[in-house]
Amino acid sequence: MLSKSQARAFFLGGTLVTFLIFIGLTIYSFMPSNDQTNYASIDKNVVRGKEIWESNNCMGCHTILGEGGYYAPELTKVIDRRGDAYVKIVLMSKQPWQPRGRKMVAYGMNEADADAVVAYFKWIGKIDLNGFDRVVSPLSKVKN
Ligand code: HEC
Repeated sequence: MLSKSQARAFFLGGTLVTFLIFIGLTIYSFMPSNDQTNYASIDKNVVRGKEIWESNNCMGCHTILGEGGYYAPELTKVIDRRGDAYVKIVLMSKQPWQPRGRKMVAYGMNEADADAVVAYFKWIGKIDLNGFDRVVSPLSKVKN
């Protein structure tokens, strides 16, 4: 059985040690060499792409980083999976894109907007996801 002063020392010592570990891990996480956000490649085009993504509610149907609707394919790694040209065709199409049955909205985007969305997908596709890449919605596994 600990005496009162031993218990206090145990509590204060334990708190100090875990606090120092916490501070150390925080510093480690924020070291530039451990960056996982790929922020260096965020340029104006990426920001514009993100705005287009938000204002058109793409997440109503698609997931990105696993968040959003499960109606349409996961798009975090869409550039790896499909390539720039395919994605641009989908976004610029004047007809609803639907080779696999469900309909994508026919946005008929101009080239600049489609390029911006592609830039956004490229940035997000290069984020280090600690292996989340393997956890995607079922539709994104459909290949052709
Ligand atoms: C109404 C639901 C809906 C909305 C909103 C929507 N999409 Fe889609 N999208 C789909 C569906 C369904 C598909 C799959 C079509 C197919 O392959 O048959 C698709 C396919 C795609 C693909 C090709 C994915 C692949 O793996 O083949 C891209 C890229 C894409 N959408 C981007 C977007 C972007 C960017 C937005 C917002 C500007 C958006 N979508 C909004 C339903 C939607």
